[in-house]
Amino acid sequence: MVSLSEDLKLALDRVAFAERLGIVPDRWQQDLLRSSSDRVLLNCSRQSGKSTMSAVIALHRALYHPGSLILCLAPALRQSQELFGKVLGFYRNLGRSVSPQGERKLSLELKNGSRIVTLPGSEKTIRGFSGTALLILDEAARVADELYFAVRPMLAVSGGALMMLSTPYGKRGVFYDEWTRGYGWDRYEVSAYQVPRIPSSFLGEERRSMPGWWYRQEYECSFEETEDQIFTHEMISAARDDSIAEHRFEGDESLWD
Ligand SMILES: Nc1ncnc2c1ncn2[C@@H]1O[C@H](COP(=O)(O)OP(=O)(O)OP(=O)(O)O)[C@@H](O)[C@H]1O
Ligand SMILES: [Mg+2]
Repeated sequence: MVSLSEDLKLALDRVAFAERLGIVPDRWQQDLLRSSSDRVLLNCSRQSGKSTMSAVIALHRALYHPGSLILCLAPALRQSQELFGKVLGFYRNLGRSVSPQGERKLSLELKNGSRIVTLPGSEKTIRGFSGTALLILDEAARVADELYFAVRPMLAVSGGALMMLSTPYGKRGVFYDEWTRGYGWDRYEVSAYQVPRIPSSFLGEERRSMPGWWYRQEYECSFEETEDQIFTHEMISAARDDSIAEHRFEGDESLWD
């Protein structure tokens, strides 16, 4: 049982809340948990703890802001199940129980009217969720652009927060665009070298066993050209000549003239 004063501390301090859940946050995780930004991008190494942080943040929001809808999207069902599993695990660490029905539906409903829903991302699944207080996109670099553009309006009326977390996946897509050019984001870049749980001996082994670009992508936060990109991002940018005026095709012109 948590005393009133301890509960107040947990409400005000997400680092203390994470500790209550059994996590001692790393340096960057502490910075993230102390931030009050409502537009957050995390460009992080594999296994850095980004999904764990999103589960902590989702649960904190649900518990301490009654009536909040928190939507967590991931590209595939397995990833949303994994994220939901983290949320449930933490909720149980607080000594609370979850109905089997909620578990099946990947949805956690609290007595205070808050709800955490995790969904595999497709534009169709998310239509109908409005009034979202917090929207989390896990593995955002692999989320379809259409999904991103479909979810953003959900925050319009609620004034909700948006968090995108990912390991890079090529110089393309909304995660790359927002990371490199987006406006108003609080950005966190976390390489594997900043993660105390990843030993340097393991990274040395990984470096030897995979192509360099793949290693840089997985562990060094680097947006690499993907295998199926024939033209590199730089080649396309260099080929673009802004001095050539746009030619509009008027209906009666022949394309073959
Ligand atoms: N501060 C921490 N202290 C102890 N363990 C942690 C901490 N942060 C994360 N972990 C553990 O590290 C592992 C990886 O965490 P998590 O799945 O959140 O990482 P991820 O960045 O989402 O990984 P992936 O790239 O595979 O999706 C998990 O076992 C998690 O419990
Ligand atoms: Mg993850």
